[in-house]
Amino acid sequence: MSDDTQQTDRVLERFARTGARMVERELGRRERLREGLRQFVPLTGEERVLDSGAGTGALAIAMAPLAREVVAVDIVPELLDLGRQAAAGEVENVTFVNGDATALPFEREAFDLAACNRVLHHVARPELVVSELVRVTRMGGRVLVIDQIAPVDPLAALELDRFEKARDPSHTRLLPDIDIRALVEANGLVLRASRQEQEERDLDSYLDLAGCEGEQRAEAAAVAPARMLATVGWYLAAKPLPR
Ligand SMILES: C[S@@+](CC[C@H](N)C(=O)[O-])C[C@H]1O[C@@H](n2cnc3c(N)ncnc32)[C@H](O)[C@@H]1O
Repeated sequence: MSDDTQQTDRVLERFARTGARMVERELGRRERLREGLRQFVPLTGEERVLDSGAGTGALAIAMAPLAREVVAVDIVPELLDLGRQAAAGEVENVTFVNGDATALPFEREAFDLAACNRVLHHVARPELVVSELVRVTRMGGRVLVIDQIAPVDPLAALELDRFEKARDPSHTRLLPDIDIRALVEANGLVLRASRQEQEERDLDSYLDLAGCEGEQRAEAAAVAPARMLATVGWYLAAKPLPR
């Protein structure tokens, strides 16, 4: 079995179990995320937007009133069902589609804005997620990447990944800011804006969110950082028009 297949199996296993908690969290954060998007991403309301690795649709639902149409794609069918329920009665312009963020089921240049929120650290090859976002974005369109980023100190990054993996075996690796910028550049994008925010986390709720219980919970708690303060990076990049 290839590394990619094993990773997909880990994602399917973890997220099929924990969707209900993701919905709860999504609801609690919806307005804040919507406000963040409103401020960070200039939109006319006419855009067709992709949320890749959408889960239960956190970004898609937050984005829905700001755009014409949002397509939410994820590889875990259980999350898509929960997302459809969460969107029902709230927003009418979000469609949930089953698919792989590293091989998106869309034509090239099908979207004005393609985004992923907290997905890169759940795939074996994050560069494919970004190149797929770029492929499906029209020339002159934009790509938005939001993810927790790794500490600059490589040892601190290793320790943090060790904790994250113990908590959730579908975690792969947090990318540092510099790697996300390099992916933006390697794909011919022009970075238009970036920002970082700190997210204070409560250990117990964070372990609950991943369904981390029993022995696994004790092992994860033993390697948890003393202070659970995550840094989340936002990157908005333009796909240039041809010269
Ligand atoms: C931490 S969750 C974030 C979900 C959502 N974007 C949010 O912000 O709530 C990571 C998501 O990535 C999805 N995912 C991981 N690998 C994927 C892949 N290869 N294709 C599509 N989705 C994937 C998982 O199913 C999960 O929904």
